[in-house]
Amino acid sequence: MRRSIRFIFRGMPREISAFDPSITLLEWLRLEASATGTKEGCNEGDCGACTVVLAKTDGDRIRYFPVNACILLLGQIDGAELLTIEDLAKDGTLHPVQAAMVRHHGSQCGFCTPGIVMSLFAAFHEAPRPPDREAIGTALAGNLCRCTGYRPIFDAAFDVLSDLPEDRFSESNASRLEALRALEDDRGIVIGNEDRFFASPRHLDELAEMIARHPDATILAGSTDVGLWVTKKLAPLKRVIALGRVAALATVVEGSDSVFLGAGVTLAKALPVLERIDPDLGTLMRRFGSAQVRASGTVGGNIANGSPIGDLAPALIALGATLHLRIGKESRILPLEDFFVAYGKQDRAPGEFVTGITVPRPEAETHFRCFKISKRMDEDISSVMGAFRISIENGAVSGARIAFGGMAATPRRALRTEEALVGAMLANPHDWMGAVQALEADYQPISDMRASARYRARVARALLGKALTEIAGSSRATRIVARTPIGEVRHG
Ligand SMILES: Cc1cc2nc3c(=O)[nH]c(=O)nc-3n(C[C@H](O)[C@H](O)[C@H](O)COP(=O)(O)OP(=O)(O)OC[C@H]3O[C@@H](n4cnc5c(N)ncnc54)[C@H](O)[C@@H]3O)c2cc1C
Ligand code: FES
Ligand code: FES
Repeated sequence: MRRSIRFIFRGMPREISAFDPSITLLEWLRLEASATGTKEGCNEGDCGACTVVLAKTDGDRIRYFPVNACILLLGQIDGAELLTIEDLAKDGTLHPVQAAMVRHHGSQCGFCTPGIVMSLFAAFHEAPRPPDREAIGTALAGNLCRCTGYRPIFDAAFDVLSDLPEDRFSESNASRLEALRALEDDRGIVIGNEDRFFASPRHLDELAEMIARHPDATILAGSTDVGLWVTKKLAPLKRVIALGRVAALATVVEGSDSVFLGAGVTLAKALPVLERIDPDLGTLMRRFGSAQVRASGTVGGNIANGSPIGDLAPALIALGATLHLRIGKESRILPLEDFFVAYGKQDRAPGEFVTGITVPRPEAETHFRCFKISKRMDEDISSVMGAFRISIENGAVSGARIAFGGMAATPRRALRTEEALVGAMLANPHDWMGAVQALEADYQPISDMRASARYRARVARALLGKALTEIAGSSRATRIVARTPIGEVRHG
């Protein structure tokens, strides 16, 4: 057992053996490391002012992940190199990203600038070359600039991302890789005592045993929900068990009939895998939070939080996914829709945790569509999210699985609508009407700050019509941005 976390900071190994389990990375940076270049804006993962980069090993490569330091807990950076705005310039020479921002007048208030530069620094190492507008928008969607500075920021991004990703970090790749590897070990981490601790087990059995022994501890995956309990609800976490170092939970298995995603697989890693199941899942995932949220947030966290407006659950329910759970040495599998019992209540016993999810690929003659409706295109939670898996035989619907988020207290299937749709002729929209009307019997949505009940009901009907119109092969325009052709993967 290791009693400290270890990471690289300012080019040197750093070891910390005592910290509060709920201290955020941003608090540590600004208050303890006096690294005040990283700013605090919203403190809830939205504005990107606090963006820093975690460099991690990936085989022979170093990968660069932008993360929101405000909601990431300090204990989660074990094993990484932490790069902040202060790391970029060296001996009076700006990093190419910084120089491009200066050249194009991309910095005005300067408060959002460190975060924007760090997002672009991650993109400098990760984004495809040559860049296109979409890739740059994807890289910057988690960084707000409120003084209308986006055009010069985009200009700076286009300019610097047209260069090859060569900087002093790529030049020192080999030595930094070696330093990161030297941090790796096989030991679990516990900081604190039985009453108050941050634990980060290394193996699945160790994790299962620890969660069973401390059923009241907070299970921590990417912290993109849990972090907000700390910063917004001011709820100090007494006992934290982090999943991030358990390799078995980060597994992805892509089979010919189905895909298995470990609970700890990040949303960023899941994106291309899900996109290979269906292009609409790629479009959905690209609008999931921001690059920062996707780099930390996990598939398991998005399911386990039981949110009625989580984006993955409706899509995966419609695809017929099954959830894998474990308590102690016992494992079980259940249909994903059965996991969501009621608002805030899931079929998960104390001491039990999610280990992964199996997602079947749609069979031949089965079509999938999913649509996220939110007030903003980027980084916004859904008002309504609809997902449709429709099988067709001889021009008629032979089977349907339909699920919505934002329409009930849990993500839920539209069972009456599914039944009413079977037998409907795809080519005859009048035949669909019974199903469209059945949506009213399936859902009685509520009004809240995101949308009114009336709006939600109308949108749900429209989404079903849109899915059927597209599947029927109609030439009517249904989207602003065309569906990506199957098999073509866009930028993460
Ligand atoms: C700025 C911002 C934008 C966001 N945008 C979106 C969005 O577009 N769509 C969307 O759906 N969500 C969004 N979210 C919510 C959040 O990012 C997702 O729900 C994310 O998938 C949560 O995963 P996580 O790994 O960060 O979970 P955590 O925050 O670590 O945990 C979430 C909950 O799940 C529990 N948990 C985590 N893993 C397990 C496990 N394996 N077994 C049992 N319990 C577990 C935790 O105890 C906690 O209760 C957003 C959040 C932020 C801050
Ligand atoms: S301070 Fe706004 S995202 Fe962290
Ligand atoms: S430059 Fe900071 S808000 Fe625009």
